[in-house]
Amino acid sequence: MYYPQELIEEIRTKNNIVDVISGYVRLQKKGSNYFGLCPFHNEKSPSFSVSPGNQMYYCFGCGAGGNVITFLMQYENDTFQEAVKTLAQRAGVALPEIEYTQEMKQAQSRRMRLLEINKEAAKYFFYQLRARQGSMGYQYLKKRGLSDETMNRFGLGYSNKYSDDLVKYLKSKNYSEDLIRAAGLCNVDEKHGMYDKFWNRVIFPIQDINHRVIGFGGRVMGDGTPKYLNSPETEIFDKSRNLYGLNFARTSRKNSFILCEGYMDVIAMHQAGFSQAVASLGTAFTPGQAGLLKRYTDEVLLSYDSDEAGVRAALRAIGILREAGLSGKVIDLKPYKDPDEFIRALGAQEFQKRLDNAQNSFFFELDQLQKSYDMKDPESKTNFHRALAQKLCGFSEEVERENYIEAVAERYQIGFESLRRLVMEYATKTGLARPVERYKSGVPQKNTIQEKAERDQRLLLTWLADCPQLYGQIRKYISPADFTKELYVKVAERLFADLEKGKADPAAIVSLFEEEQQQREAASLFHARLREVGSIQEQEKAIRDIVCSVKRNSYERDSAAAGNDIEALKRVIAGKKQLEELNKTHISLQ
Ligand code: UTP
Ligand code: MN
Repeated sequence: MYYPQELIEEIRTKNNIVDVISGYVRLQKKGSNYFGLCPFHNEKSPSFSVSPGNQMYYCFGCGAGGNVITFLMQYENDTFQEAVKTLAQRAGVALPEIEYTQEMKQAQSRRMRLLEINKEAAKYFFYQLRARQGSMGYQYLKKRGLSDETMNRFGLGYSNKYSDDLVKYLKSKNYSEDLIRAAGLCNVDEKHGMYDKFWNRVIFPIQDINHRVIGFGGRVMGDGTPKYLNSPETEIFDKSRNLYGLNFARTSRKNSFILCEGYMDVIAMHQAGFSQAVASLGTAFTPGQAGLLKRYTDEVLLSYDSDEAGVRAALRAIGILREAGLSGKVIDLKPYKDPDEFIRALGAQEFQKRLDNAQNSFFFELDQLQKSYDMKDPESKTNFHRALAQKLCGFSEEVERENYIEAVAERYQIGFESLRRLVMEYATKTGLARPVERYKSGVPQKNTIQEKAERDQRLLLTWLADCPQLYGQIRKYISPADFTKELYVKVAERLFADLEKGKADPAAIVSLFEEEQQQREAASLFHARLREVGSIQEQEKAIRDIVCSVKRNSYERDSAAAGNDIEALKRVIAGKKQLEELNKTHISLQ
């Protein structure tokens, strides 16, 4: 922390969260809280809430949350320090000027430093593209139809033809060799030592959902190989959990997303007004990425290359989308190869028509399937029909299955009844497919013991913050050591200390953490969804169950770990006694 905690608190409390967020989101008062459309994901009914009472915001749709500092970090892509500075100015609080010395840089967390060095590199590339030495790159992008505005929006850049100037530049800015290497910005070999990974290429910075640069793609300005060079995965760059363009697409407020293969495709689509377009990162589409999309939309239109490899990739993506509970459609780009070429040739209006006519992904799969059968040969044709029937067994819900049987029968000119019989035959032989589980997050939810334990811990913290009078009754039984994750322990320590003094202040706890991800998680600990339990008695019982569950989980962990350690065994015995007592205790909300 550069600024003392008290100063941060002063600044935070002088900026009313409702006033600040009102500058960005239209809020409406409902009861004691304010609600609006979440600025961090695409939604039609408001699940974004701001509480003047505890000075926090939270989105029940996407889980974004925190205090007024977190909000600026999330919305403006500020670092912690930048957000504090803005708020200080807003409230007229003077801040001591900070000199960033080498030691301070070392002290920053590693992730922050990796983000910072990437930002520095991105700025360097950005500058080069617009300088005289970058005219090759600039001309190349112009020739591909990109406007200055688009180049700026995507932060496009250029790495010049010398292969060591970025490394030199970063070193001159006091970044260590170790960090340059960890950020994937250089190659190292015996002959050349350390040299730039990217040179003589146009550069596409890859940003996370908060517009922070986490990696780069670089394209040759002609026909060389490899066509695109990408940053390796690093501590901040997980290619299976980010999507190119998502930082803009997530607030595009369109009904569906467009998923494509290339950086240039995303950029061309955005430039043409299709800001809902995203692409995977030089690797195949993954379930993690599907989960990410599921946060923002229910429908994904695929606009993969129209060549054979593109079709194969599309088929794989369809399966992944379906697993994630997303409905998929396929855009026909023929006779053009990809969205970029299509839009260049026919323009945005024609592209919109193709979107409107995108094909249901199930039919796309069937059409592809049909290609491996000879429809003129009765035997082959029959086999195709059998294959169709088998696929139709995949719909476990009767209404849906019947609808699809009807549509398929019509499309491939098969008698409805005979296709239906064929499907039923298969179904009795092999059973209907298990219902495809539709996970909310798109990622299989770990319903493990640990997940449940963590949920109970979150619930307990939420209850304690909302009803501080509970603390006196449970402090005998529960201590911060009963929590499992490091972040939970830290939050509990501070919350318990505050409650000892009689007052919980969750918003202050959030800024104990400097990283946005941690702030978000800390905020979520105060927004666990309380079960809607009716009467006071039922609520009291629910709380006791949660307290018992947290204690039991901690007791079980202790017992498993105790071995022959006398101290640990003592803890286990004490824990057991407390558990028995707790079971008989009445917890009161009055
Ligand atoms: P494409 O080869 O389809 O290129 O690769 P493109 O997007 O149409 O690019 P332009 O229009 O020729 O510039 C699609 C994506 O696959 C990855 C990149 O992410 C690219 O955007 N790719 C491709 C690589 O990572 N390396 C390569 O050598 C080629
Ligand atoms: Mn292309």
